[in-house]
Amino acid sequence: MIVSGSTSQSLAATLSRELEKPLAAVSYDRFPDGERLASVPDFEGERAILVASTTSSDAHLELLQLQDAVREAGAEHVTTVLPYMGYGRQDAAFESGQPISARAVARAISTGTDRVLTVTPHEEAVCDFFEPTAESIDAAGRLAEPLPTDLEDPVFLSPDAGAIDLAETVRDAYGAGETDYFEKVRHTGTDVEITPSDVAVAGRDVVVVDDIIATGSTMSEAIAVLGNRDVGRVFVSCVHPLLVRDAYTKLARAGVEAIYGTDTIEREASAVSVAPAIAESLTE
Ligand code: R5P
Repeated sequence: MIVSGSTSQSLAATLSRELEKPLAAVSYDRFPDGERLASVPDFEGERAILVASTTSSDAHLELLQLQDAVREAGAEHVTTVLPYMGYGRQDAAFESGQPISARAVARAISTGTDRVLTVTPHEEAVCDFFEPTAESIDAAGRLAEPLPTDLEDPVFLSPDAGAIDLAETVRDAYGAGETDYFEKVRHTGTDVEITPSDVAVAGRDVVVVDDIIATGSTMSEAIAVLGNRDVGRVFVSCVHPLLVRDAYTKLARAGVEAIYGTDTIEREASAVSVAPAIAESLTE
């Protein structure tokens, strides 16, 4: 039976159809002091598949409750699917005295599950923080699907070298185009400096591809450096459309025609579902 965290209800429903497995009735409640209480039905002898993107501290807590609840309700096996792993970008102690937050949350999640799957983690190494090691699912290829079929001599750019694989995956799935990447230095959470690539973009449509769009700073800076190069249409694609604060405004002001993301995070920009890729991993 599939159990959805409150953040991933649409994806869990799609996965339930893909796998032809029932979707559990879950209730998400809160006590007057703000504490959460998630409840599940009877799971005696069942295998539970929990689907929950941990996009907030509340979502993390709710997932831990759901894991505990299905065990209490008799589940004999628990698989946890983290379509988006929150705190995954904090994969190191960047200054002394700081935690390795990705490891801390991975340890907590590991205690309540037999298996963990996650979609396009920020760094593959975070999978090793789970016990047993989390399985990583690559769904980036699907990001080619919502792109217009008439892209003009397209260039698929990534905002830094770390995301060039994603840009190549989307280009390969699209079936045409060149790839390149910018150099990025992050000064603060919202202040990033992008050094342009020297790829020719005049008159060509550009698709900037990244794993996450959070504040939109990276994408809008990347597009700004293309500003005076007579670029054609500009699209942005990402696996995880976190889109916090004024991200939509930043991207619109940067001249983006459309934002395409997946449903690892359920947003207006979630144009494609990762459910088929998750279903394939679960049935291998
Ligand atoms: C960081 O390296 C990631 O790949 C993304 O570039 C980053 O998380 C995007 O964040 P923001 O939209 O806040 O610039």
